[in-house]
Amino acid sequence: MSRARLYVSRLLPDPVMAAIRERFELLSTPGEHVPPKERIREGFRSAEAALVTLTEHIDEELLSTAASLKVIANCAVGYDNIDVQAARRRGIVVTNTPEVLTDATADLTWALILGVARRLVEGDALARSGSWPGWAPTQLLGADVSGRVLGIVGMGRIGQAVARRASGFAMRVLYCTRRSLMDPHPGWIHLSLPELLGESDFVSLHIPLTPETHHLIGPEQLRLMKPSAFLINTARGPIVDEDALLDALQERRIAGAGLDVYEREPAVPEVLRKLPTVVLLPHLGSATLATRVRMGVMCLQNIQAVIDGQRPPNQVN
Ligand code: DGY
Repeated sequence: MSRARLYVSRLLPDPVMAAIRERFELLSTPGEHVPPKERIREGFRSAEAALVTLTEHIDEELLSTAASLKVIANCAVGYDNIDVQAARRRGIVVTNTPEVLTDATADLTWALILGVARRLVEGDALARSGSWPGWAPTQLLGADVSGRVLGIVGMGRIGQAVARRASGFAMRVLYCTRRSLMDPHPGWIHLSLPELLGESDFVSLHIPLTPETHHLIGPEQLRLMKPSAFLINTARGPIVDEDALLDALQERRIAGAGLDVYEREPAVPEVLRKLPTVVLLPHLGSATLATRVRMGVMCLQNIQAVIDGQRPPNQVN
């Protein structure tokens, strides 16, 4: 039986690449870097299936060249990088990778909460510097996490996983969400976004990027946060107006930020890079080996389903 022609944009972990080579006719030589649009176009021209990541912007123009493409499997839970409506109009199925990265992303969110509150990066630098003078009662004093208030914007799978972890820190959990939760945890309190921003010590974002959520956190919202509060973003950069965040941080209108995502990735503004009150990560939310393998395997299951004429488990359009 002939194997389906698959375009793969980026190099994936070995077990995923091995499964791809065994089960599909691989049309590309995926590497460590984002391929130029021309390469993607070439691949799309003859592929029946494509496996792409959040760094590839799949627009109407690219889709128009994809005469035999049946499915695009996005190796991410977010799919704001793909014009899903245009794909739908052309009968191309788009899928994502929910659930398998929930725990990894929630864990990383907590790494940022703890990292920024307890000044881990500054502490690490001091310990490595060779000039640590020794313990001092006023050295690198941070903010308490235990017993404080965690505000979660977006109570989907990842938001809920972050909230569940808060019980280990005896935190009060506030949340705001568009759709009401089916079975809300008795201790979690639903508030409007302005109320949540005003009451939280840590505001953590867990919503998808859509036209409605673009710059959801702007100057007005940042002004509602307490001067002692921290903003945590492991969702998508453009949900936050980065210029407004820079102003708020520089003017110390908020205490700090833990960021895994940026408005114009991979650009990280120089001003942000110089601020000691932020912890910055290079979009590592789902970056564990086991998680990335699960994501790749899920992409292949979705692709195979479409090739076999079935509805894939994670269709989004
Ligand atoms: C996602 O799945 O949307 C993540 O950002 C990938 O790490």
